[in-house]
Parts: sequence; C-alpha cells; structure tokens
Amino acid sequence: AGQPLIGENAGNAPLDRARADDTGCTLTTNQGVPVGDNQNSLKAGLRGHTLLEDFILREKITHFDHERIPERVVHARGSAAHGYFECYKEQSTLTRAAPFAKAGKRTPVFVRFSTVAGERGSTDTARDVRGFAVKFYTDEGNWDLVGNNIPVFFIQDAMKFPDLVHAVKPEPHHGMPQAASAHDTFWDFASLMPEITHMLMWVMSDRAIPRSYRMMQGFGVHTFRLVNAQGESVFCKFHWSPLAGTHSLVWDEAVKISGADPDFHRRDLWEAIEAGEYPEYELSLQVFTEEQAEAFDFDVLDSTKLIPEELVPLQPVGKMVLNRNPDNFFAETEQVAFCTAHIIPGIDFSNDPLLQGRIHSYVDTQISRLGGPNFHEIPINSPIAPVHNNQRDGMHRQAINRGRVAYEPNSLAGGAPFQAGPRGFNSFPASGEGDKVRGKPEKFAEHYAQARLFWISQTPHEQDHIVHAFRFELTRVQTVAIRERIVAMLRNVDETLAQRLADDLGLALPPAMPSMAVLPVPEYAPSPALSLTFR
Ligand code: HEM
Repeated sequence: AGQPLIGENAGNAPLDRARADDTGCTLTTNQGVPVGDNQNSLKAGLRGHTLLEDFILREKITHFDHERIPERVVHARGSAAHGYFECYKEQSTLTRAAPFAKAGKRTPVFVRFSTVAGERGSTDTARDVRGFAVKFYTDEGNWDLVGNNIPVFFIQDAMKFPDLVHAVKPEPHHGMPQAASAHDTFWDFASLMPEITHMLMWVMSDRAIPRSYRMMQGFGVHTFRLVNAQGESVFCKFHWSPLAGTHSLVWDEAVKISGADPDFHRRDLWEAIEAGEYPEYELSLQVFTEEQAEAFDFDVLDSTKLIPEELVPLQPVGKMVLNRNPDNFFAETEQVAFCTAHIIPGIDFSNDPLLQGRIHSYVDTQISRLGGPNFHEIPINSPIAPVHNNQRDGMHRQAINRGRVAYEPNSLAGGAPFQAGPRGFNSFPASGEGDKVRGKPEKFAEHYAQARLFWISQTPHEQDHIVHAFRFELTRVQTVAIRERIVAMLRNVDETLAQRLADDLGLALPPAMPSMAVLPVPEYAPSPALSLTFR
C-alpha cells in the first residue's frame, strides 16, 4: 500500500547523472585543461626524441593502455537492454516483493542475455545455454533474477561448478575450441557425471540454438521462496515466456550465420528495439508448498530437475518490455553486475546447494572484475532506492560521506542509519538442523526420469536434431572410451536414442551405465514447457 508507481523511465535518473555528451565541445585533458594540438607529440626538434614531459600524450596513452577489464569468467559474451516490468495483479497474499505490489505498477529493469562458454568476442549462434539475467530496480532495492533459457542445470552442487567450467572452456594447452562444447574435456567430464544427463538432453536440443534473444524463455532454475507481509512463505520457480513465441534455429542455419554474422543475436536485439519492435516476456510463477514438495518423486532443491506444469501450473503475474538500447556498451552492458545475493523483502533463497554457492560467487568475482568493493556505485548497478550505511572507503569510492560517525551504535550522530526492523529484509526463519555432513539427499540420486520425459516430449524431427547434435559433438571427441560412456549413459534415457548414436559413431552398443536409480517415467504427460512452441 502506498507504493509509488515507478514510471518506465525512472530508471534513467541515476544514469542521467553519469551521461556525458562531448558533441561540439573543446577537447580537454582529464583535468579539464584545453588541448592545443591533438595531432603531434612534443619533441626536441621536429625529428628529435619525444619528451617525457608530454603529459598530454602520456595521459592519453596511459588511459588507453588500461581500457580493457577482465571478461566475465563465464557468460563473457552478452547483449543487454533497458525496459520495465509491469505487474498484472497485486500478489500480496504470496509476496511483499515491491514489483508485485499493485496492478499496473512498473519497475525499471536492465536485462543481459549471454552465451556461457564463449569468450567476449565469440559467435552468438554457438550451441550453448543462454543467460537471461534481469535486474529489477525496485523501490526496496535491486533484485536480480539471474537465470538461463533452460530450466535445469548441469550439476547439483556448487562444489562442482569450477570443474564444469574448466571442462567446458577452451582446453588450456592450445586454447581450443573457443565457443563450443565439442571437445574431449567437456564430454569426459559429462560422461563421468550422470547428474548431467537431463541438461545434456536440453543442450543437444534446438533450445541451445535460439533464433533470437526475443524468442527464448528464461528460468530462475532454482526453487526460491516468496514471503508475504505476514511472514508466511511458499516455494516458487520463476519462468519468463517470450510473447513472440519460443523459436530456434536449425543447426545448419546456426553454423552458416556464425560465419556470416557472428553478432546475429546482438544485432537482432538492437535493431528490433531501434525499430520500436519491443521484445516482451511474460513472467509466471510456479508456486508450491513444502508439503507438496515432499510428495514429488524428485527433490525441489535439485537444480537438475524441473517441476512439470501438470504438477504445479504456471500463474502469469506480469510482463516485461524491453524498450531502450544502452547508450554505451562498456558502461552498461559490460559493467553491469548481476548477483543472486541481490534479493529484496518478499523473496528468499531455498537450500538448493547450487544456489547457496552462487550467493557467494558473483560478488566475489565482481570485486576483481570491476576493481574493488565499490562497483555498486557504477551508475548501471546503483539502485533507485536510496543507499545509507556505514560502509566507507575502498578502491574507486565515489560517495562523499559527511560527518565523523561511521559506526553503530553511536551517540554522536542522532540520525545515523537505523535498522529497519520488520519493515526491512529479514531472512525467512526456515527450520533446519542436522549433522554437519557432505553428501546428497536420497532423491538427488535419480538422474534419468526427467531426461526421458524430455526425450519423449520431442517431436520426431526434434528427436532427429538431438541425435544429430550428439553425433556432431561426439565425432569431435578423440577418445573412444568417452564416446562409449555417453552412449552407455543414454541407454538409461532411451534405447533407440542410444542405438542410433552407437550406429552413427560405429560403436557396438555398450552395456548401460550402472545408474544410481532408474525410476519409471512419471505418470504425467509431456509438459508444454518441454516442447517448442511455434506461433
Ligand atoms: C555469470 C558463477 C550457476 C546464470 C556468472 C559469473 C559467475 C558465475 C562467477 C560471472 C559474473 C560476473 O562476472 O559478473 C556461477 C556459479 C554457479 C553458477 C558458481 C553454480 C554454483 C549458474 C546458474 C545459472 C547461472 C544455475 C542460471 C540459473 C548466470 C548468468 C550469468 C552468470 C545469466 C551472466 C550474468 C550477466 O549477464 O552478467 N555465474 N554461476 N549461473 N551466471 Fe552463473
């Protein structure tokens, strides 16, 4: 109640402070000194040595020398846009989160789409997962929903993330291949990690070669919590669906486009927005209780599993519209820092062990990528909500905090920032006690039922594409034992798939990989979320 409606351009305000327009101005140094000659360095005679005292040359070259910052350790290649999220209907029974406070309320957003494995200059149409990261500039602080275009993930526990990324990235001795998973180290790792099977099916499907960023879904992947003003909580999964429908390329198109226009997705997003064809995505929630979760035959804390829509239907809650291109790629798209730890009152984490690791990882990497602990002051990262705390100093600090008091409690500054109590963010008091252990819950051991569900949800031509993708990838794998292990793994998904692949690779069908637990395919029918929609 009483929440202000945020206009769709409110997000411009913090950026306006930082916008620079040099058109028609006199050229100056960084100290504001007008530059007399921008063509020639200062020399002792026209053909003599360049003088060390040429501070103008030195400043210009020094700044240039430091223009590059490290690329993201994953998701290095990306494109972004501004827009807004509009709430369809107040959701106060589920959550007090600010974007859902009122029908028609608009919250500014900045969204970055990305590939995962390729370097900053790699091609857009590689076979890969796509990142779908949304920063909501809410009136109660920034909320980042850092998702992907595939609803499940490769691994179950953050402990394996560095191994996964080391396996998928270019091989360290020769730096190849730079934007594709088709190589021994990725498939070696995959063939030894049965939990990857469900994700592999998606990555070998047409979902991993989207036609456009405007035409792909987005998923928060993990189970999150929603918490209402009364402190009641339910579990939730987040789904974005493009209103233009979900469309993919076929592999031959993707390969050809990759050569002809490696910026294909970046160009498409930019040009659509310039032309006023604003990309739109509907946000839906899958809401369920802890009791429901216990009855599922999979664990909702396991990110290699989705929740079929037959078990928990989607509830549309709002729409996101991307209506403005960034002014400056570096300042906005490159310097934006998404982080799963950025949540707001009304949203909370679950104990998903992958999510728990991510809460640490993003801010940690950004401290080195963006040069210290003050990157929240970079305009694209700074919230619309006011920031008041006792944090001080550090590399590149911008704020000029006044006064002598930077601690609490204090008696010297009557108005020092006070904690908000129940009005502020308070972690949901989820109960939890147990022995200090490393291990996995029982249901995490089943890896094939949903992979099989995905396979049978595909049309025959989509299944052909999956077989062809496995064949393309595995023929680039030199080690025969790795190829055999993948086929052995796929026997637990579908015998025809495994046999077709074995035939294509010239292998005798190996015995099925001993599985931790092979459960029958659940009773529910293939979900609409599992098949491509064409409109
Ligand atoms: C980017 C870590 C799993 C989605 C990143 C970055 C790191 C990272 C270090 C670079 C951030 C930066 O430099 O700004 C991890 C770890 C994971 C994990 C440790 C598992 C333990 C996931 C999952 C998803 C995901 C499951 C999807 C649900 C993304 C996206 C980006 C990203 C979309 C790019 C954000 C952007 O556009 O700037 N991740 N990640 N990650 N991650 Fe993860």
